[in-house]
Amino acid sequence: MNNSSLFFGVMSGTSLDGIDIVLINNRNKNIDIVEFIQIPYNTNTKKEFLALHSGHLSDLEHSIRLSLFHAKITANGIKKILKKHKLKNKEIRCIGYHGQTVRHLPEKGYSIQLGSANLLAELTNITVVSDFRNRDIVAGGQGAPLVPAFHNEFFFKKSKNRVIINIGGISNITYLPTNKKMIGFDCGPGNILLDHWIKIQHNKNFDNLGKWAKSGNLIEGLLFNFQKDLFFKKYPPKSTGRELFNMNWLNKFNINDYSPQDVQRTLLELTAVTIKEAIKNFCSNFDEIYICGGGSKNIFLIERIKEITATNINTTDKLNIPSQQVESIAFAWLAKKCIQKKYNNSHKITGSSGPRILGAIHYS
Ligand SMILES: Nc1ncnc2c1ncn2[C@@H]1O[C@H](COP(=O)(O)OP(=O)(O)O)[C@@H](O)[C@H]1O
Ligand SMILES: [Mg+2]
Repeated sequence: MNNSSLFFGVMSGTSLDGIDIVLINNRNKNIDIVEFIQIPYNTNTKKEFLALHSGHLSDLEHSIRLSLFHAKITANGIKKILKKHKLKNKEIRCIGYHGQTVRHLPEKGYSIQLGSANLLAELTNITVVSDFRNRDIVAGGQGAPLVPAFHNEFFFKKSKNRVIINIGGISNITYLPTNKKMIGFDCGPGNILLDHWIKIQHNKNFDNLGKWAKSGNLIEGLLFNFQKDLFFKKYPPKSTGRELFNMNWLNKFNINDYSPQDVQRTLLELTAVTIKEAIKNFCSNFDEIYICGGGSKNIFLIERIKEITATNINTTDKLNIPSQQVESIAFAWLAKKCIQKKYNNSHKITGSSGPRILGAIHYS
C-alpha cells in the first residue's frame, strides 16, 4: 500500500475563475506546501460552464465534454508539478478532486460537479477521490460547506474563539470556539454578484482591490431590499450558490435605475454586512477573525468588514496556510480522510443524519 504523505488538492470554486492545484506533504497536523498553481479558465470555458449553470445548454453531451476537458487541464497541471519537483506518480498518495459545480440543489437531493475523475486517474495514474458532496446530501445534509472540518483540524486554538471566513464566489463562515461547539454555514454572496456586475458594466472579470466599488456611494434603500432575501434569515444548516445569487436575483431590484458604481458599492456592502450579521448572530464571543479566499484580495471589502465588525482582521497566512490555498488544501485533506476510511463530513454543520465518509475513490 502507498503510505506516502504527498497529496494533491484540486479546487474549482463558484467564482469560475479557474482551477487551483496544490501539492502538500501532510503528516498529522503538519502541512508543508510543495507547490501551488492556478490555471485560469479562458473566457470561452467560463462561458460554457456558465451556460450549463444557467440551464441553457444543460445537455448531457455538453456536460460530459466539459468534464473530460476539465480533467485534461487538471492532469496537465499535475504533470507539470510532478516534473518540476522530480516526483513520480507512485510517490503521490491521492488527488482530492472537487470538480466544477454546475448545480447545487441539496433540497432536490443532489449537487453536480463536473470533472472526470476516471480520466484524471487514467491520465496521471494516481488514485483520485471525487464527488465529495452527494453522500452528505442523500444523508439529509446540505453537502456544504465541507471546509469547516479542515478549519477545525488546523485552525482551532484552545485559548481563542476563532472565526474563519472564506470569501469565494459565495462566502462561508466557520466558528471555532474554545468549547469546541463548532458552527459553519454559507453566509451569502461573496464575490459572485460583484464579479457579475463589473463584467456587464466594464467587461472585467473582477473589481481589482475593490477600487470601482470604492468610487461609488452606498444606496441604503437598495441594501435594505437586498437583505430582505429569505436566505439571510434562515438558520443554519444552510448553503447556497449560483442557483440563487445570479443575474436574475439582481434584476429583481431594478438595479438599472442607479448608477453602476453605486450598485457595485452596495453589493460590496451586502457581502460585508452579511458576514458581519453571521458573526454577530452566531459567533458572539469571538476573539479573532481570519479571512481566506479570493475576496481577501479585495482591499476595500476587507476594510469594510474591519470597520463594521470593529475588529482587526488577518488572513489565514498568519496561521501558516496561505489565504488563496485553503480550499484546495482542504480537499487534499478530505481525500486523505476518505482513503483512510475516516469520517469527513462534519454532519452537525451540514445537517446530515450522521458521520459519513465523503468521496468516491477511483484507483490508479
Ligand atoms: N485582486 C483582486 N481584487 C478583488 N477581488 C479579487 C482579486 N483577486 C481575486 N478576487 C476575487 O476572488 C475571486 C476568486 O476567489 P476564489 O476564492 O477562487 O473563489 P471560488 O472558490 O469561488 O473560485 C474572483 O472571482 C474575484 O472576485
Ligand atoms: Mg477559485
